[in-house]
Amino acid sequence: MDAVQDIKGRLDIVDVVSEYIPLKPGGSGAFRANCPFHSEKTPSFYVSRPRQTWHCFGCDQGGDSISFVMRMEGMEFREALEHLAQKTGVVLPKFDGEKASQRKRLHEVNDIAMRFFRASLQNLPTADHARTYLAKRGVDDLTADLFQIGYAPESWDALTMAMLSKGVTESEMLLAGVVGKREKGTGVYDRFRNRLMFPIGDVHGNIVGFTGRILTDSKEEAKYVNTPETPLYRKSAILYGLDKAKGEIRRQDLAVIAEGNMDVVGSHQFGVTHVVASSGTALTSEQLGLLKRFTTNLAIAFDQDNAGHAATLRGLDLARAQDFNIKVITLPPEAGKDPDDAVRKNPELWKQAIKDAVGIMEWIYRNAFRNRSTASPEDKKLIAKDVLLEVKRIADPVERDHWVKRLAKDIDIGEQALRDAMVRAPSATTTKAPTAKAATPTVATRADIGWADHENRLFALAIYRPELWKAAISIEKIGKEDFEGLDLSTLYGNLQISYDPDISVKADLALANQTIRPPATLTPDEAKNFDALAFLAEREYQGQSLEELKRELNTAAGTLRLQRKKRERLQLEQYMREAERLGDQERILDLQKRFNALN
Ligand code: UTP
Ligand code: MN
Repeated sequence: MDAVQDIKGRLDIVDVVSEYIPLKPGGSGAFRANCPFHSEKTPSFYVSRPRQTWHCFGCDQGGDSISFVMRMEGMEFREALEHLAQKTGVVLPKFDGEKASQRKRLHEVNDIAMRFFRASLQNLPTADHARTYLAKRGVDDLTADLFQIGYAPESWDALTMAMLSKGVTESEMLLAGVVGKREKGTGVYDRFRNRLMFPIGDVHGNIVGFTGRILTDSKEEAKYVNTPETPLYRKSAILYGLDKAKGEIRRQDLAVIAEGNMDVVGSHQFGVTHVVASSGTALTSEQLGLLKRFTTNLAIAFDQDNAGHAATLRGLDLARAQDFNIKVITLPPEAGKDPDDAVRKNPELWKQAIKDAVGIMEWIYRNAFRNRSTASPEDKKLIAKDVLLEVKRIADPVERDHWVKRLAKDIDIGEQALRDAMVRAPSATTTKAPTAKAATPTVATRADIGWADHENRLFALAIYRPELWKAAISIEKIGKEDFEGLDLSTLYGNLQISYDPDISVKADLALANQTIRPPATLTPDEAKNFDALAFLAEREYQGQSLEELKRELNTAAGTLRLQRKKRERLQLEQYMREAERLGDQERILDLQKRFNALN
């Protein structure tokens, strides 16, 4: 048997979920809880024992036990599978075993290096200046411990010797990047010398590399030396501190992105623990992919002295295209130059700045006025240029208009002049068209009553009471084409084939406690949609009488019918305009007939 099915078969999703959150019975083999993936006061997270699935109406997510563990632990599919396999005693077929054990060994090598650096910081008589430096920066022992901060001695071979004595070979050290190859002669040399050492963890906290800070203000040497790209460490795929911040990021549904490692260390020390660092570069798509496991809300803090806004904005473009909601944090002038300064001056300054984060356009707008005077015609031009460049990228005309009006008022220039200037302004070349949202059906919640909601409700009813499904088809003449959402439309088509309403009608009495199962013929995507609708049905329709359900059906079907008419009318109107333009009398008459038949 397929190992995945085997593992799933041996687990009960109710047990899996219960290890993380307390579940309460919710009828028909269903359980409910406050959703662990977003914060809420009333439970909208459901688990179904018969279907072995979960669904949250609040964040509109769902899946099986594997996807649950993936999201809870921030694991990838394979990792989650291994995690669950351990519980069930299923032996997974080895997967690239050699590579996996090499990675494991490199984690160990990095770990040995970390312990050497850590011991050096704590014990070496020649590390006085490093201890003093750390104290001067205000890092307390607990925090140094949490981040495993260490010291690399002023030596070309101290680490190498220590590691050799622990059985680490030179080629392993090279592969881990903690040493470099000597140019002359043979052998290796310590890469990090006389530096404060910060281990860099992957999302699970395995050490994959280091960054070492100089202990002086010398401009002669690089401020930070990093592990070079290795099989474990790729700078573009790392967010410093994510292993420690991920839980709080998920709880707050917000990740704060700072620039420097010290910003993360300082924030944690003062209890602001949903902070990670991009390590001084624009966010990459890999970093965004990591964050997306925990949240799609980002608040980005620029250092005060950061001149590289353009680069950062490019990173933001990427994030915006991937459906992240982004805000920008501005530190007040008295807070110092970066979050580390701010939190040490007064943690409230940093906390408040995070709370006060504003949207990107608002931030760009305010930033355009910084250090400029609206009394100077030259400055006005520069302000307008900065703002309009961004306004031009806004797709929504109403929103665009809002900013033009506001700018016109704030720099006292006519709106028309600004509109002219905007047309002439170069288009920002960094713009990426937002990728179309994946066409996932959304099971609307009560608060959100729109067309989609009626479609979903009708569907859920049909799944819950198939005999009503039949009524919907015959009496209300609902057809595949009535469902706007493409996914619902194909699902409808498939259910038509695989659902035999007559069979279910006979089992009417049993229906009160029925559990809904997807027909085996559905594709995985359809089964997922089906599952979300089944949860909706169980939540909304359990315990209602057939009469009530019929009324419900009539409302939903009636709305859907109105919707179809409206669509048809719009379509006919367009045909009509075309026919009139072409002077096609015959077609005009025909269309008029069809139009009348509509009403
Ligand atoms: P910063 O210069 O802002 O460093 O660079 P910082 O973290 O605030 O350090 P302190 O407070 O001066 O001690 C931001 C980040 O850019 C990366 C590091 O990850 C750093 O944390 N960086 C910076 C490098 O990789 N190399 C450098 O030479 C400088
Ligand atoms: Mn700093």
